[in-house]
Amino acid sequence: MDKTTIRIFDTTLRDGEQSPGASMQKEEKLQIARQLEKMGVDIIEAGFPVASPDDFAAVAAIASEIRGASVCALARCRPEDIDTAARALEGAAAPRIHVFLATSALHMEKKLGMSPEAVLGTIDRSVRQAVARVGEVEFSAEDATRSDRDFLARAVGAAIAAGARTINIPDTVGYALPSEFRDLVAFLIDSVPGARDVIFSAHCHNDLGLAVANSLAAIEGGARQIECTINGIGERAGNAAMEEVVMALKVRRAFFGLETRVRTEEFIRASRLVQTITGMLVQPNKAIVGANAFAHESGIHQDGLLKDKRTYEIMLPEQVGLSEGALVLGKHSGRHAFRSRLEALGYRLSEEELVQSFARFKKLADQKKEIYDEDLETLLSEGTSDQDKDRFRLERLAVSGGTLMPPTATIVLAVDGEERQMAGLGSGPVDAIYRTLSKLTGSTARLLSFTVKGITGGSDALGEVTVRLEEEGRVAAGHGADTDILVASARAYLEALNRLQRKKERDRKAGITPQPVL
Ligand code: KIV
Ligand code: ZN
Repeated sequence: MDKTTIRIFDTTLRDGEQSPGASMQKEEKLQIARQLEKMGVDIIEAGFPVASPDDFAAVAAIASEIRGASVCALARCRPEDIDTAARALEGAAAPRIHVFLATSALHMEKKLGMSPEAVLGTIDRSVRQAVARVGEVEFSAEDATRSDRDFLARAVGAAIAAGARTINIPDTVGYALPSEFRDLVAFLIDSVPGARDVIFSAHCHNDLGLAVANSLAAIEGGARQIECTINGIGERAGNAAMEEVVMALKVRRAFFGLETRVRTEEFIRASRLVQTITGMLVQPNKAIVGANAFAHESGIHQDGLLKDKRTYEIMLPEQVGLSEGALVLGKHSGRHAFRSRLEALGYRLSEEELVQSFARFKKLADQKKEIYDEDLETLLSEGTSDQDKDRFRLERLAVSGGTLMPPTATIVLAVDGEERQMAGLGSGPVDAIYRTLSKLTGSTARLLSFTVKGITGGSDALGEVTVRLEEEGRVAAGHGADTDILVASARAYLEALNRLQRKKERDRKAGITPQPVL
């Protein structure tokens, strides 16, 4: 077993999706999975198949397509969960089932209502059931860092004896400190029979801002798999950010002496993709992928950099995929050039999708002379929602504003295929559009956030608007891109409204009543 490599286990599609409002559709999950495969991630945790038919379908689709990474499905220690996970993974080239059960006294008593002996028996039975279905089984001791050490060692021992080949130590509530966590991993590897024949893994949450530090400490303790997400998204304060863990290992290679298989030049693209799909934008000072991560403002720093980059740069922007966007396409580019560039960016489109996106590209090229990779990605990401299932579609929009007249929006909207028209006022042009759209759709959704950014430089740049809406406890993101930011604003709002509609419909079928978001 190779212990000089750190396996990167990505859980953006499972724990990442548990971020409030980050739920993704099947096609969006597939897009992220393709990017993860392209990056060289070892294991993709694609979802929790028993949670819903949508989750099952997304895991099955990813399992059938991805060949360059192992595809993993989560299951509680319950026969039905394990059976559903195994069925969802049937098409996978390298399937893995990830079973978990809590081992802290608090969780066993209050949440599970199980005795410690019953927990040990359940781990044994569940791991054996999973091993009988797929060879590669991972066991997680939920809330490991608040568990009694000796009991945790017995639980881990039971999982290894039953055939688990990866043992994950989650810091479920982000409670551990780095030195403590390193010692815990080292203690388990030293004391549990069979521990040296399996891979130990760390899964850290960021409640105290220590997820990356704890993951690196676990590596020092002997862990050889790290569970992480793109941009660090995940339950509550999130999970360890993959780009931070991997770049720490790369920049401080002399200290760790360990490799990953990840192509770090793909980080910016992956980060943007996840931001676009989830609507969760990273802050400018976010390490590695934030807009300011490589920006030097102080004169002293700029002077130093001009003399020698190493004075203030510990890694090169190119290493994480940050480069001046190369001019790739323009008004005269044909369909062939368009398709080849998209393929190089990792998109695989059907003939129909290609025709539709090429038409959008031509329209954009009429408005904007130079089209960069980022423009193409934005254009493509607009087309990823299930548009044929959309209830609301923007037909026409006219907006007036300025200092002479009150901001007014006149909108023609197709609602279930039928045209409706209305004009309305607002305190600004975007407000006028959103108020009018609310009336036209009858929606009571609340705007949680509105962000606008230029995709590439210049006043003719594509403006991308991202909104997050909340209605009856459901949260959905939407984004729209256009050289006219008012059109982009309307599209973003409608995309989020359409997603809320689909969620409402899905919950109604499943008999789920969501809790209000405060
Ligand atoms: O945080 C956690 O404990 C988890 C487990 C399912 C691994 O996400
Ligand atoms: Zn977690």
